[in-house]
Amino acid sequence: MKKAKLNNGTLMPYIGLGVFRMEDNDESQKAIETALSVGYRHIDTAAVYGNEDIVGKAIKNSGIARKDIFITTKVWNEDMRSGKVKEAFESSLKKLETDYVDLYLIHWPVKEKFVDTWLEMEKIYKKGKAKAIGVSNFKEHHLDELIKSASIIPAVNQIELHPYLIQQSVLDYCKRAGIHVEAWSPFAAQKTNLFSEKILLDLADKYNKTPAQIILRWNYQRDVIVIPKSSNEDRLKQNLDFFDFKLSDNEIIMINSLNKDKRVGSDPDTFTF
Ligand SMILES: NC(=O)c1ccc[n+]([C@@H]2O[C@H](COP(=O)([O-])OP(=O)(O)OC[C@H]3O[C@@H](n4cnc5c(N)ncnc54)[C@H](OP(=O)(O)O)[C@@H]3O)[C@@H](O)[C@H]2O)c1
Repeated sequence: MKKAKLNNGTLMPYIGLGVFRMEDNDESQKAIETALSVGYRHIDTAAVYGNEDIVGKAIKNSGIARKDIFITTKVWNEDMRSGKVKEAFESSLKKLETDYVDLYLIHWPVKEKFVDTWLEMEKIYKKGKAKAIGVSNFKEHHLDELIKSASIIPAVNQIELHPYLIQQSVLDYCKRAGIHVEAWSPFAAQKTNLFSEKILLDLADKYNKTPAQIILRWNYQRDVIVIPKSSNEDRLKQNLDFFDFKLSDNEIIMINSLNKDKRVGSDPDTFTF
């Protein structure tokens, strides 16, 4: 499993399992266990997904040592608004049945709250209870504001990123600041026909891969960590298998040309939750 080196030296697998919309039930737990059995060692959850407990159970059942699995979770907006960051973090640890997380993220940049939240997260980090801390859904101006008050630069910024929203300026900013970018909804699968794009189909043909694997490879070559969600064993395996071919620089540019600055999720400046 190839790993990215974060700005504090923490190693983070380039591919993880996203578990958003996996409900808190046996079927989802089984899907997470399947993912671990086929080779996933990185899981992306969040307090608001309501499934940290099945992530914890699946990890326990897998028999894989805790230290060999990278767990990300996130502090939810309401907990930021009520100033209960420490309590929210402790509740996540309890549900995940662990005494530390590998990465703790601010889920959304809640106005007038994210700086104070970050200062609480720095305390959690300094106690060793999160191996790295970072943010999600931050634009450049959010990062500017955070960095002014921070003593720790975020290790990761997890953002919506796919060929219809290539996020080049955030990527460039983060690279300059030493922040690793992570792509959520890498397939923009809920509301688009991305997999039917001719450029992706032609590249899939050329490399004997699927459009999904071409997208995963494009991310990897842009140094972006990915967390696709799947509950299907074949697709789980497929999504791990993109390290054995290389897109040319021109092919990366061709995929970049699909950009429409089109979001499938909320805009971090106007979200209403
Ligand atoms: N930080 C944030 O605000 C935020 C927001 C949204 C999401 N996220 C994170 O990002 C993760 C991924 O995002 P997402 O779940 O929205 O979207 P996604 O991973 O882009 O797409 C998931 C969809 O693609 C399908 N799929 C998976 N692999 C496939 C393949 N190889 N070929 C064809 N279809 C495939 C899945 O169906 P099957 O299950 O049937 O395979 C599912 O319907 C989430 O689970 C969550 O952890 C974070």
